[in-house]
Amino acid sequence: MKVGVLTGGGDCPGLNAVIRAVVRKGVFHYQDEFVGFLEGWRGLLEDKTMPLDLSSVGGILPRGGTILRTSRTNPAKHRGGVDQCIENLKKHGIQALIAIGGDDTLSVAQKLHEKGVKVIGVPKTIDNDLAGTDFTFGFDTAVNIATEAIDRVHTTAEAHNRVMVVEVMGRDAGWIAMYSGIAGGADVILIPEQPFDIEKVAETIRLRHARGRYFSIVVVAEGAKFSTDVDPKHGSNIVVDLGKDEFGHARLGGIANVLAREIERLTGFESRTVVLGHVQRGGSPSAFDRMLATRYGLGAIDMAHRGEFGCMAALRGNKIVSVPLADAIAKNRTVDQETIDVALGLLDKLAAADKQAVAD
Ligand code: F6P
Repeated sequence: MKVGVLTGGGDCPGLNAVIRAVVRKGVFHYQDEFVGFLEGWRGLLEDKTMPLDLSSVGGILPRGGTILRTSRTNPAKHRGGVDQCIENLKKHGIQALIAIGGDDTLSVAQKLHEKGVKVIGVPKTIDNDLAGTDFTFGFDTAVNIATEAIDRVHTTAEAHNRVMVVEVMGRDAGWIAMYSGIAGGADVILIPEQPFDIEKVAETIRLRHARGRYFSIVVVAEGAKFSTDVDPKHGSNIVVDLGKDEFGHARLGGIANVLAREIERLTGFESRTVVLGHVQRGGSPSAFDRMLATRYGLGAIDMAHRGEFGCMAALRGNKIVSVPLADAIAKNRTVDQETIDVALGLLDKLAAADKQAVAD
């Protein structure tokens, strides 16, 4: 079988591990041939390719980024773009296309599937917000990086009696903030799913400091929203600029600075900011992500040979299964109540204890 492979959207540790697994199993078990389309959907649109064989995937397992490079190109935003992609697949005699990406990349895969292309998806994003799967690869690495950063920030916060506000990625879902915040012992965790009241944040910190703990750690997802009088339920984002990418996303970022300023104003405690940004997406994948990405890659090439097109390899429990792409892109997978309860179980107890101490 002749198989095309591409990686789209923001890069993510583990992309190379997927590519390697797809190619190795394809060559060793099925005698497949591969074509790599470069820079996500742009490569398919503009016919930019690279040969993909055993030698090109040698040594890439521990490497971050993607040997195929990536972009946020959306063929549907280019006149005749989707049809041009189909033409280029025909030109190369591609019998199956494996698209490794998040909801944006996979929404294009679904469009192609609806036009008859034999496409299979692999779920990628550090944000872990893709429906249909329990975890996306890249998330574990990002959480480890963020947790290490929070640990480091902890000691300097403690030394200076400061409030440290750590901003992590997470546009629509606060998975990274939740996991790294809980693992790093943060005092306040703010996620996009629940717009926050700045007065309550300040009060939590005041109570904690009144009890003799002279520092606090706040972890905030870039997509977290200040609750406003106008729109208390939905709140408003802090954006870097007003431009949007081809999938309609604004560039978020900077909420930590606004937050730190407000905390300092409302509490009088000196505050500082750390914005982790792309550090979370760079570098070598964790062992967990290498394993998960490898299993996804093997799953995807098996699915191609079983003819399970229009589907995505997914993790359910500890099994790799095949789910319809349509289900994966139907909605964002936001932080569930069970995870929120883990944080509340710790944070509420602290707040209650703090209140008691103040009353005493
Ligand atoms: O794709 C996930 C993500 O890491 C988001 O958390 C973040 O908002 C976005 O990508 C940043 O994208 P870019 O690298 O294009 O600035």
